[in-house]
Amino acid sequence: SDIAGKTILATFFHAPDRHAVEVLEETVIAIAADGQIEAVIRPGAVGYDTAHESADLTLPDGCYVLPGFVDCHVHAPQYPQLGQALDVPLEVWLQQYTFPLEARYADLDFARRSYSTLVEDLLASGTTTALYFATIHQEATRLLADICLEKGQRALVGKVVMDNAESCPPYYRDTSAEAAIANTRAFIDYVRAHPGNAAARVLPVVTPRFIPSCTDEALAGLGQLVAECGCHVQTHCSESDWAHGYVLDRHGVTDAESLDRFGLLTRRSVLAHSNFLSDADMDRVVARGAGVAHCALSNAYFANSVFPLRAALERGMHVGLGTDISGGPSGSLFEAARMTIAASRMLESGVDPALPAASRGRPDSRIDFATAFHLATAGGGVLLDLPIGQFAPGFRFDAMVIDTCPRDGGIRLLAQSSQEDILQKIVHTANRANITRVWVDGRSVSSR
Ligand code: GUN
Ligand code: FE
Repeated sequence: SDIAGKTILATFFHAPDRHAVEVLEETVIAIAADGQIEAVIRPGAVGYDTAHESADLTLPDGCYVLPGFVDCHVHAPQYPQLGQALDVPLEVWLQQYTFPLEARYADLDFARRSYSTLVEDLLASGTTTALYFATIHQEATRLLADICLEKGQRALVGKVVMDNAESCPPYYRDTSAEAAIANTRAFIDYVRAHPGNAAARVLPVVTPRFIPSCTDEALAGLGQLVAECGCHVQTHCSESDWAHGYVLDRHGVTDAESLDRFGLLTRRSVLAHSNFLSDADMDRVVARGAGVAHCALSNAYFANSVFPLRAALERGMHVGLGTDISGGPSGSLFEAARMTIAASRMLESGVDPALPAASRGRPDSRIDFATAFHLATAGGGVLLDLPIGQFAPGFRFDAMVIDTCPRDGGIRLLAQSSQEDILQKIVHTANRANITRVWVDGRSVSSR
């Protein structure tokens, strides 16, 4: 049940920093009525004994609390084709499978069923915040925002802009750049004025799908709109050889440089994939305070590429993880975190220490479970510029309970020597059945 306005006694894991996890053992967290964390009271602190004795909720042994996951790249309308059509190139996949599916969201009954299922499933998977691409449709995109509000998920939602007749089919594109911009503006106003959204738990996002799908007129208009309204921005950036090459051909510069020229690279811009960023692109993204949604699983299928994650982190880039439903066949950030670790190891392998310049891989690419866990939680919060992903005063209480000994179906973790080992095992092995409760702003949004 809800925990807003109450206190909870448990062992919490979080990773405010990408280098280390922090274990808050037997700690009491006090949550304000609006869902903000008021106090984190650790053993030995003033008032701990009283807080410990009077805690409203005490978790049983074997249960731990993690920050809710932050999924920084999801195509909400693509959930019906999850796990399907992963073996064709991106440009074929878009035209043959994805655009026909997304076009169906003109039908609001279909949209309601599909979006409700998705939001419920993501909440049950521990995703308390999601950055969503919707479709080009004004009505269905409003409905996605409504459903997130209704079900209590923190969400950032964008009406997709795609007005370029050269790359978008007649049955699925904005009628003009003007209309696309006007509809984006109307959607922003709708979300901001929504009577159920006083806490701004759902935010509007300016969403040019990717440069190939947009005219220059649309990109320029959206850049102006961002300057006016200060919204988040999301788009695909240098994802595949084809997409990256298209922009070089059309604009004579890389995606990152082009987006910057249009005013679309801001502190609140999230670039999905970004596999082929040059060093200069990386510097540009870092200088603007923008960042990348790293979609390791999808990149394996559609980009045939690995984002140089560690190099980006070492330059100070903001990075979060994305499932890229349905470019990636899993909606779970546990799986995204694991693929992130595995991909970083594969990028590093193949390096011949004697001949590094001649080898396939990149040295010093690996990241470990602590970094992956950080990216799935606190890192996503930094990328989105929101106070989420860690347990500290001023942050929102978005969290999940992991039962390491569930009765029905989850992985059961046997006794461990250290708490950090338990988190390591959770990150590497847990699944949806281990997630027994999920809160957003202290409000219960999923339980089993
Ligand atoms: N590039 C443009 N649209 C898409 C999409 O829907 N998914 C992925 N992975 N890449 C894209
Ligand atoms: Fe995508």
